Amino acid sequence: MSPDERLEELRRRNRAAELGGGEERIRRQHKAGKKTARERLELLLDPGSFLELDRFVVHQTHDFGMAEQRIPGDGVVTGSGRIHGRPVFVFAQDFTVFGGSLSETYARKICKIMDLAMKTGVPVIGLNDSGGARIQEGVASLGGYADIFLRNTLASGVVPQISAIMGPCAGGAVYSPAITDFVFMVKNTSYMFVTGPDVIKAVTHESVSAEDLGGATTHGTTSGVAHFASDSEEECLALIRELLTFLPQNNTEDPPLRPTQDPAERRDESLQSIVPGQPNKPYDMKEIVRAVLDDRYFFEVQATFAPNIVVGFGRLGGRPVGIVANQPAHLAGCLDIAASVKAARFVRFCDCFNVPLVTFVDVPGFLPGTAQEFGGIIKHGAKLLYAYCEATVPKLTVITRKAYGGAYDVMASKHIRGDANFAFPTAEIAVMGPEGAVNILYKRELQTTADPGFSEARIREYREKFANPYVAAERGYVDEVIEPRDTRARLCAALAILKTKRDANPPRKHGNIPL
Ligand code: HXC
Repeated sequence: MSPDERLEELRRRNRAAELGGGEERIRRQHKAGKKTARERLELLLDPGSFLELDRFVVHQTHDFGMAEQRIPGDGVVTGSGRIHGRPVFVFAQDFTVFGGSLSETYARKICKIMDLAMKTGVPVIGLNDSGGARIQEGVASLGGYADIFLRNTLASGVVPQISAIMGPCAGGAVYSPAITDFVFMVKNTSYMFVTGPDVIKAVTHESVSAEDLGGATTHGTTSGVAHFASDSEEECLALIRELLTFLPQNNTEDPPLRPTQDPAERRDESLQSIVPGQPNKPYDMKEIVRAVLDDRYFFEVQATFAPNIVVGFGRLGGRPVGIVANQPAHLAGCLDIAASVKAARFVRFCDCFNVPLVTFVDVPGFLPGTAQEFGGIIKHGAKLLYAYCEATVPKLTVITRKAYGGAYDVMASKHIRGDANFAFPTAEIAVMGPEGAVNILYKRELQTTADPGFSEARIREYREKFANPYVAAERGYVDEVIEPRDTRARLCAALAILKTKRDANPPRKHGNIPL
């Protein structure tokens, strides 16, 4: 072959690789409302930044006539690229090649970029769209999955790992995304389940569609498996790009600064009146969160799952922070199983990746009920407590209203290494609310008294004595009782001081979080 012919061969091979499963299957992919693996990478990455690896890799199987069907790339596009100028490693499963199903060589391609990501301290993003284990390869495919699961686990807490589900993701294949830090889904074109509608029908006789069983809305609101549910692939990929702006490249770095024009000392007068005078009146905690953050911008995570607790990212003085906030507008801000698990995982993520935590507290306690007790609120609530206790990142806390009972301890209290604990004058820090306390303390008197105002008088007394921030402030459990309008200034100042915070946990193999 002449040098020119060799060049022509390279070009021909490149063209074949870029075509994946061919024009007909690309057309079918588009018809199903989905983009191809390469189109997705183009949207995800900075223009022209994608550097592909292993585009000529093919499977090594001969059974089932596979020797005649070798498609360069073998169903997954892998490599590196940049997002807002910072490097990332990526894989995008190509549904046009054997339904994106995973072969031994395909798994090896993914493992290669994961190993590179670990060596270089760079996030990994996986775009999933696959029929699962490649049936023709049997156990070799299962082994390939396990190789990926192992790497997901070893990379956890070392580099951020992000999964987008953009098509099918079923059976054991769900467990790679499940181990990663954030799961994104697209409504109507993606689903995740361990066993699908047909198996469910056969075993439990339930009828359910794939979308209802494992679509983006289900996982975004009911199961909590997905952190984001997008209306389109474009929106999903844009959200991934944005999420990364809050994250460091790995666990040895701080999250990136984004300078802001928003003054650190900005006072917000609206904060003076957001918390209602009546203790049982709901309000939207997100209004407080937004009023405090740089440019009033809050990037919420898991917005539709367990809305009684709010988690997400924002910035204070240019520095990314993780927000955890009880939401009195839902279930009075009670901690239940779903809220505890949601917040615990978020707290642990932030702690892994040096993102300071800012906690807004208005919590009447844990949600009562047999469903909660039978479901294990004891161990699930303990997860959140454990996560806050072990976290060594700067922990800033603002008690806006109720901080009752065990939930007071849990929500980044001073006792579990809160670094800067503030309270509004409306804070009520006590073992329980006034009505409950009076019912217990004066049980006998309430049964016998003829005074119709007895209960009310005791409640007033209790409220004045205990339902305020000053008992805690007198003991140093809150560092300062602040005017609500000064919240941003106080948090920014505390964060600046805590920039050099160093804290550690005792050496051990790992703790035993109550799972
Ligand atoms: C090999 C597969 C495949 C697979 C799909 N294809 N899944 N090839 N192994 N697992 C091929 C099809 O033969 C077809 O090839 C092409 O991909 C597109 O598939 P269609 O069925 O035409 O597409 P669609 O109608 O959109 O249905 C998609 C699907 C369906 C729902 C994913 O293909 C399906 O049910 N596949 C099997 C899923 C499955 O049971 N996987 C194993 C699960 S167990 P042509 O040549 O016609 O284009 C598992 C365990 C993981 O994954 C274990 C981890 C521990």
